[in-house]
Amino acid sequence: MKAVVLCAGEGTRLRPLTHTSAKHLIPVANRPVIAYTIEAIRESGINEIGVVVSPNVEEEFKLALGDGSKWDVQISYILQESPKGLAHAVSCAKEFVKNEPFLVYLGDNLLENGVTEIVKEFQRSKTGASLLLTEVKDPSSFGVASLAKDRIVKLVEKPKHPPSNLAVVGVYLFSPTIFEAIAQIKPSWRGELEITDAIQWLIDQGIEVRPHLVKGWWKDVGRPEDMIDANRLILEKLELQIFSEIGQDSKIVGRVSIAEGVQIRASELRGPLLIGPGAVIENSFIGPFTSIGQGVRIVSSEIEYSIVMSGASIEGAGRVDHSLIGRNVRIFRGKRPPETYHFVIGDNSEVRLV
Ligand code: DAU
Repeated sequence: MKAVVLCAGEGTRLRPLTHTSAKHLIPVANRPVIAYTIEAIRESGINEIGVVVSPNVEEEFKLALGDGSKWDVQISYILQESPKGLAHAVSCAKEFVKNEPFLVYLGDNLLENGVTEIVKEFQRSKTGASLLLTEVKDPSSFGVASLAKDRIVKLVEKPKHPPSNLAVVGVYLFSPTIFEAIAQIKPSWRGELEITDAIQWLIDQGIEVRPHLVKGWWKDVGRPEDMIDANRLILEKLELQIFSEIGQDSKIVGRVSIAEGVQIRASELRGPLLIGPGAVIENSFIGPFTSIGQGVRIVSSEIEYSIVMSGASIEGAGRVDHSLIGRNVRIFRGKRPPETYHFVIGDNSEVRLV
């Protein structure tokens, strides 16, 4: 069995970060979102993965993931020329999956417990499709399923009046009949070929589509606040690990992970907190629920509940909370006293606090 990971699309809700990088390559706990996806797929026993990408980010993906050998999987790249919808993205993978059942995983979804259970269950059963579902408070921003016994009988994409509170999580198992279904559907009101419409076509043909309920947390990291929260969820399992010398003038509280070559002076670090290699932290208060990337420099600042990506420099910023700070961003201070700031800043930006 093969897996197809959908990573094309525009990532509009994460601009400006997605002007320079795909959202799937944004780090959560210092690793790109898609690394967790690849590991979950490998764990389920699948080791051939097709990653569907947009032409503008193809090179960046190849640089980050290569041929997959660092995860012991085989990665192929499949181009989707323009983001015409999830069903269109799946149809781009037709040649790759050949005439066999396959897994589709939306590359911006993170799952605490991976996909092993649903993959195994699908392999045992003879169903046409199987979908991961979970109960949510506001289903109107997701695909929503209606069930009858152990079958899905109706699917609607982002309904104003949801028929249930069961949202479609971004994991689907398909038999090759899905390609026939995709060929039959028309673009939706938003101009996309919706995978929910293709699955509804299967249901209308009497093909069995089974639900599988998620255990543990699930996160669609389409918005900055979701990225920051996913970072928190992953850091919940962080273990204390210190690979650099910490001076007597600094204090560590809780589960903090510090990589090699990190310099810490006159600072308090509060876990869960992850600090990447070569970071410099001076006269600052960092954490909890924060990831600091490689080579980041933080001086005279307080940072909590945030993701700071590699190469960023933050000096005299006062208190930074709930923030997503891009690669090589520079934040520095003018003359006014510190306040609390809320940042969503793209790569290579520069912010001056006057
Ligand atoms: O997160 C779960 C939801 O994902 C489901 O409940 C919905 O039924 C499903 O349609 C989808 O909705 P989103 O609006 O969140 O989809 P999004 O546009 O964010 O795309 C999901 C992933 O698929 C993302 O990694 C980008 C990729 N994609 C998207 C489009 C539109 C493609 O590869 N090609 C595309 O044409």
